Amino acid sequence: MAILVTGGAGYIGSHTCVELLDSGYEVVVVDNFCNSTAESINRVQKITGKSVRLYEGDVRDKDIMNKIFDENKIDSVIHFAGLKAVGESCAKPIEYYDNNLISTLVLLDVMREHGCKKIVFSSSSTVYGTPKRLPYDEGHDVGDTTNPYSTSKYFQERILTDVYNSDNEWIVLLLRYFNPVGAHESGLIGEDPKGIPNNLTPYIAKVAIGELKELGVFGDDYDTPDGTGVRDYIHVVDLAKGHVAAINKINTPGVYTYNLGTDKGSSVMEVIHAFERACGKKIPYSVKPRRPGDLPAYYSNSSKAKRELGWEAKLTLDDMCASLWNWQTKNPKGYNG
Ligand code: NAD
Ligand code: UFG
Repeated sequence: MAILVTGGAGYIGSHTCVELLDSGYEVVVVDNFCNSTAESINRVQKITGKSVRLYEGDVRDKDIMNKIFDENKIDSVIHFAGLKAVGESCAKPIEYYDNNLISTLVLLDVMREHGCKKIVFSSSSTVYGTPKRLPYDEGHDVGDTTNPYSTSKYFQERILTDVYNSDNEWIVLLLRYFNPVGAHESGLIGEDPKGIPNNLTPYIAKVAIGELKELGVFGDDYDTPDGTGVRDYIHVVDLAKGHVAAINKINTPGVYTYNLGTDKGSSVMEVIHAFERACGKKIPYSVKPRRPGDLPAYYSNSSKAKRELGWEAKLTLDDMCASLWNWQTKNPKGYNG
């Protein structure tokens, strides 16, 4: 069975390709490399000893998408391709809505034309917006989003649901990720942010390796146990396995929504300490003002995924930091090093 992985050269996509190949699936990837390189796919092949059929192209380009579906027997699609930086999306809403919405529309159109009606979509816990209750469960309100990136995820969930409503043969899986961190245990693939990282753990890793001077802790006056922001960090390999569980388990038409998290919140200070244990060094930091748009705390209730998919996250925050440090030290300049 062949699975088309859009954005498969990216951070979560490359880890998911490994898990799919290890589970016996054929994998076809389309990526325009706007935030990745083909080297990640070379490394996926090295880890698994299996080959990936790679197309360089933009999911918004209907011709290349038709070509991919004509040349391969695609049974289902995992749709990772998209732009993902919250802050950048506020400065570039047109680019974000263009890339994220048009790619989904073109993909769905081409899938429909080729009779392929099973899709797994990379959504985000940020669709829940300001928490009305915690942990977030799948029944929590959605749509009260605070930036164009998250709004685009919410819109894409709606589009996918409307497609199912128009044709009840579709199988639509909406996976709402919490904060993916860490890297594959081989140290061959990992997160390779361009420029100065926006996210916490890649930033800490660059401080630990000496590339950046100190971490800014964005606020220590939140209503949380130590005053710093709390998130539900999930090992990217656990997250990748969640996709395989979803693809394997759900074969009946419908729209299914699952949180993929660890159900455990960790503060910025707890992450710093876990990373210090992993790298054996002190992480210099200073407290900065709160980052606009940040929520104080949120974390998952992922019991539905456990119940229905037989999946749960197994790896700890220490595992996440150790694997990130392994990737960082083996690839100080990322894939180009
Ligand atoms: P990433 O940037 O590493 O991966 C996205 C990949 O898609 C990249 O390889 C990029 O080159 C490619 N791409 C982007 N637009 C494309 C297009 N139009 N055509 C073809 N390829 C395109 O990001 P990631 O962290 O691996 O995230 C994957 C997905 O998961 C994204 O949709 C993201 O919004 C979602 N997500 C990520 C997080 C997170 O914290 N990393 C959390 C929740 C949801
Ligand atoms: N933080 C710092 N300093 C930094 C970076 C982050 O203190 O240099 C803090 C933030 O204030 C927040 C926590 O670390 O409290 C986590 O921030 P990240 O930027 O790592 O992650 P976010 O929770 O803002 O968002 C991430 C992804 C989104 C995704 C979301 C899912 O960037 O794309 O997780 O929960 F949707």
